[in-house]
Amino acid sequence: MNMASPALDIARIRADFPILSRTVRNKPLVFLDSAASAQKPRAVIDAIRACYEAEYANIHRGVYWLSQHATERFEGAREKVRALLNARDSREIIFVRGATEGINLVAQSWGRHFLKPGDEVLITALEHHSNIVPWQMLRDEKGIVLKVAPVDDAGELIWPDFEALIGPRTKLIAVAQVANSIGTVLPVEQIVSLAKARGIVTLVDGCQAVPHMAVDVQALGADFYVFSGHKLYGPAGIGVLYGRAELLNAMPPWQGGGDMIRSVTFDKTEYADLPHKFEAGTPAIADAIGLGAAIDYVNGIGYAAIAAHEADLMAYAATRLNQVPDLRVIGTARRKSAVISFVLNGVHPHDIGTILDGEGICIRAGHHCAQPVMDRFEVPATVRASFGLYNTRAEVDALVAGLHKVAEIFA
Ligand code: ALA
Repeated sequence: MNMASPALDIARIRADFPILSRTVRNKPLVFLDSAASAQKPRAVIDAIRACYEAEYANIHRGVYWLSQHATERFEGAREKVRALLNARDSREIIFVRGATEGINLVAQSWGRHFLKPGDEVLITALEHHSNIVPWQMLRDEKGIVLKVAPVDDAGELIWPDFEALIGPRTKLIAVAQVANSIGTVLPVEQIVSLAKARGIVTLVDGCQAVPHMAVDVQALGADFYVFSGHKLYGPAGIGVLYGRAELLNAMPPWQGGGDMIRSVTFDKTEYADLPHKFEAGTPAIADAIGLGAAIDYVNGIGYAAIAAHEADLMAYAATRLNQVPDLRVIGTARRKSAVISFVLNGVHPHDIGTILDGEGICIRAGHHCAQPVMDRFEVPATVRASFGLYNTRAEVDALVAGLHKVAEIFA
């Protein structure tokens, strides 16, 4: 068993995550499902508890000190997100429930308002359902056309085919930065720069990128960027839509209610400025503050160290999994991040998941909310191991031992 890590004090980091010391089915917990949702460090848990125990009141409304303090904490979290993404202005950061809500906001506000029948939205064959279904809903409502760029057998975008799908009616290119199902890192810089040169709006789903790599939305140049807090070691129920102010200002609100208005009469409502125009109702105050704490935590470790550690885990896992008889990795792109998907000949992924669960090992088995990816690779489902900054080579060894047990059971 090798606990080696090139850059992180992994024992100290693991001690920051209370859940990692528990047992499951009388076995030490081996958590290899961070792509679905990451575990939370004590700093995040404490920030949420402190909010409710000592700082909680509704925000943007109170004349009293406690409300103003809660508002400062909430807006402070927005500023932390701005800095994380290097957005120009914190008004370009919209708090939403998660990446899914962020994409739906863009579809329902920007898409409904600006797209006309026959306009085209281009996505890739690697998208999560959350970057497919909102566009299909718009297609059915408005008669837009949804085009899908294919991927090759390694799970890489076929660039000439992608380019060939861009035409005069292409109005939006919406792509994942990292494919959640098989881990491909897409060439988003190249995609955005091509789109910009042709005046096409871009949306990048950064859910599986933000936990693993530094993101600079100004350098990237994307018009919209979304991510979910719960995959970044923060709470569930909070996420972010970044949008360039010029676009957000031109878009109509998508939900009406309190906090998104400047004035209301029965005849007419004037909307608030950014970001509040898109944040109707009382938001997830403590969760936003928790997300801020998660960002501080990740920054305290640093993306360079996280990336080096996870690259080491990926290389180690690829080598070790290759030694398991009858195992086939699905997705062998040159650039992958923190996700390995595979199948074992003759054994359904759900059976593998159940046997591994008996060993205290948490992996995801299924279609990973990306059924078209499964169709592309002609498998009903895969087993997916995904890594976070707290995982170890020893956990990869545990996974491999568990897979040998699966092979024995099904021999
Ligand atoms: N989208 C999440 C995943 O990849 C839930 O598992």
